[in-house]
Amino acid sequence: ATEAAKLGRRIGFTAVPMGVTQPLVVPVGYSARVLYRWGDAVGIAGRMPAFKGDGSHTAAEQALQAGMHHDGMGWFPLGEGKDAKDGKEGRGGPGESRHGLLAVNHEYTDEALLHADGMMSWSADKTAKSIAAHGVSVVEVRAEPPARPGEPPRWALVRPSRYARRITASTPMRLAGPAAGHPLMRTAADPEGRQVLGTYNNCAAGVTPWGTYLTCEENFYGYFEPPEQLDAHHVRWGLKPGGRWHRWHEFEERFDMRRHPNEFNRFGWVVEIDPYDPQSVPVKRSALGRATHEGATSALLRDGRVAVFMGEDARFEYIYRFVSRDPVRPGGAAANRDLLDNGTLSVARFDADGHGRWLPLVHGRGPLTRENGFADQGEVLIKARQASDALGGTKMDRPEWTAVDAATGQVYVTLTNNSARGRPGQPGPDAANPRGPNPMGHILRWKHHGDLGAETFDWELFALGGEAGGDAFGGPDGLMLDPRGVLWIATDHSPNAVPAQPGERLWLPRNQLLACDPSRAGGAQPRRFLVGPHGCEITGPVMTPDCRTLFINVQHPGVDPAVDGAAGDLWAGSWPEPGIRPCSATVVITKDDGGVIGT
Ligand code: FEO
Ligand code: CA
Ligand code: CA
Ligand code: CA
Repeated sequence: ATEAAKLGRRIGFTAVPMGVTQPLVVPVGYSARVLYRWGDAVGIAGRMPAFKGDGSHTAAEQALQAGMHHDGMGWFPLGEGKDAKDGKEGRGGPGESRHGLLAVNHEYTDEALLHADGMMSWSADKTAKSIAAHGVSVVEVRAEPPARPGEPPRWALVRPSRYARRITASTPMRLAGPAAGHPLMRTAADPEGRQVLGTYNNCAAGVTPWGTYLTCEENFYGYFEPPEQLDAHHVRWGLKPGGRWHRWHEFEERFDMRRHPNEFNRFGWVVEIDPYDPQSVPVKRSALGRATHEGATSALLRDGRVAVFMGEDARFEYIYRFVSRDPVRPGGAAANRDLLDNGTLSVARFDADGHGRWLPLVHGRGPLTRENGFADQGEVLIKARQASDALGGTKMDRPEWTAVDAATGQVYVTLTNNSARGRPGQPGPDAANPRGPNPMGHILRWKHHGDLGAETFDWELFALGGEAGGDAFGGPDGLMLDPRGVLWIATDHSPNAVPAQPGERLWLPRNQLLACDPSRAGGAQPRRFLVGPHGCEITGPVMTPDCRTLFINVQHPGVDPAVDGAAGDLWAGSWPEPGIRPCSATVVITKDDGGVIGT
């Protein structure tokens, strides 16, 4: 066990009240500092444009700076100045927690904030800037050793850095796995169906055991101008007339489905990135299935193969598991470059008796035949929703992050909310989604009959949003089990959510981060660790292996209406810097005595 794991799951901080007035609050004895906000230079040598907080920076500058709307993150240790790429060097010492790379998703853009004049006009330059503000950052971060024993590490970005990188919605990437080259993936620009430009709407993420980053494409459909005639496939994947929320297609014709019907199928994938190699080409791993992906959490089976758990964040969509065919090999990314291309994807079914079963999405098995519209395994993966419908997977309340407790084998998933459950024409409550409507969300957990690759499991409700018992929360989204087994819950709740059941505590005006000991008898009893700025969600929680540094992301902070009203200045109440536009940002949290976070 690591040093941190020996400390056990004890939680010792004093809860933060929801009624605090400061913009970002952590418990007494902790400090939170902004580390990397929208517009900060990523750190490419000689190309580090300063941020302009009025939106006047260019598309070319934006491509060298942090994108907007930070979301999922991953930690990649660099050790004592060494490269941990081979999976050995740099691991195990204190270095792995003091120096490393952060991969940061930039999920989406707020075009009104991104451009100086917002959406007053639209142009090729604005399209390019919007594309550049999406994707992923890789930044190098380092903690100076404490000045004195008993003080916390002092974190800063290392700039310039040879690892610094921006991946955007125009970065060339490779398609791999059974859907690569499929007729449904071929376009005029890519007749082979194996090369695609960019990743976007990168929501949550995961880190593989071999040290690569998995970034997940979520609400990709809203970027396409739909075709005039919508077919069943289009409708099943969210297209509707007038349903897009971007104007990229006016200057990037691949997003116009009237001209390029298949570009749409090339998004909705999990993308693997080697953050240690800034020249590496990201790979879309089609074997993990297409979805409006939230995250991808990996864990090893007893025989060395890897399981990847994934939620699809949409109302009445599914929870997936991929199990690799082959075991993970020592030697980092290079030794495992095709590992995620072969294996079995399954969808979860949660039965009312507390049992559950993984239903494999394998062409030719059960209903997944040519007669039913699945020509081959590639089509099963591209149409994973239709395949899961045919198999009878359980339609969930917007599954967001998953977390695996390596010590117990339990797997957790947040179901953030579902205002449509039980509405006319929509599925009603079921055992695993017991409330309709469900404005506050809930958390499920399950344990396999065997290891994480077993076909069946037992499941239970772990926590219901809005219920008494510990500090109230709504809209559970981010989920992280730290190395000592404490479960961290980050929320994305709308304070305007409509009451559903009597007894739900509804007035949660700001989003938060909570901690709980999931092994505790008698319920989760979450304790509030952080309250975020007005309007934001809290996401991305990542703990260093020594549990002495916690990184989080503040996404879509707004302005404090009380401050702006008083000052008469549009941005006076902005977070993190009053007077300029509000910025999503990565925040680093340490304990003032340098100790373990949460104790
Ligand atoms: Fe991008 Fe499901 O939140
Ligand atoms: Ca999310
Ligand atoms: Ca969310
Ligand atoms: Ca969000």
